[in-house]
Amino acid sequence: MAREYFKPGNMLYPLPAVMVSCGKEGEKANIITVSWAGTICSDPAMVSISVRPSRHSYNIIKETGEFVINLVNEELTFAADHCGVRSGRDEDKFKEMKLTETSLDGVSCPGIDESPVCIGCKVKQIIPLGSHDMFIADVVSVSVNSKYLDEKGSFHLNDSGLIVYSHGEYFGLGKKLGSFGYSVRKK
Ligand SMILES: Cc1cc2nc3c(=O)[nH]c(=O)nc-3n(C[C@H](O)[C@H](O)[C@H](O)COP(=O)(O)O)c2cc1C
Repeated sequence: MAREYFKPGNMLYPLPAVMVSCGKEGEKANIITVSWAGTICSDPAMVSISVRPSRHSYNIIKETGEFVINLVNEELTFAADHCGVRSGRDEDKFKEMKLTETSLDGVSCPGIDESPVCIGCKVKQIIPLGSHDMFIADVVSVSVNSKYLDEKGSFHLNDSGLIVYSHGEYFGLGKKLGSFGYSVRKK
């Protein structure tokens, strides 16, 4: 098979593109779109986001020690892109994108009510890596849009139209190929 080497760089795709909301008391809340985001521990539930110190959100998150990861679905993709190319230094992104602030347990900054899942996070550690600092955080609350809950209380996240970010482009999720463990499950 013919293969070529590229200069070593970031090529781990697809990635989530999440809208991270943050806010300091007395100032308007902000939203930064982040793809350098990941789940890093199951118990305790922990996540990381990597943010460039030049971002307006960087100091807010550093000073407050809090942020909310808001999952992005197809309806929110335009707003997610906008929040990833405009700075909170210059505009109120909640207002520009007609998004609604929602209060969440465990954190003082708002989540985005239009998001199917808001994950409240408290920063535990900040690791400077180079271009980005990594914020390692505990998940302190998870709130979901009840429209994706059925009458038995089961959550149908995959009905919410989540999107992924791959090599500069946004995509909806494709067809279902299997479920966890299906390769070894008896038919
Ligand atoms: C899809 C996408 C993913 C992004 N991922 C990151 C990221 O992981 N870390 C980061 O610092 N900036 C990332 N950005 C850039 C910031 O979202 C962008 O600079 C934003 O305008 C910063 O907003 P702020 O100045 O209000 O904090 C991303 C942008 C887009 C569109």
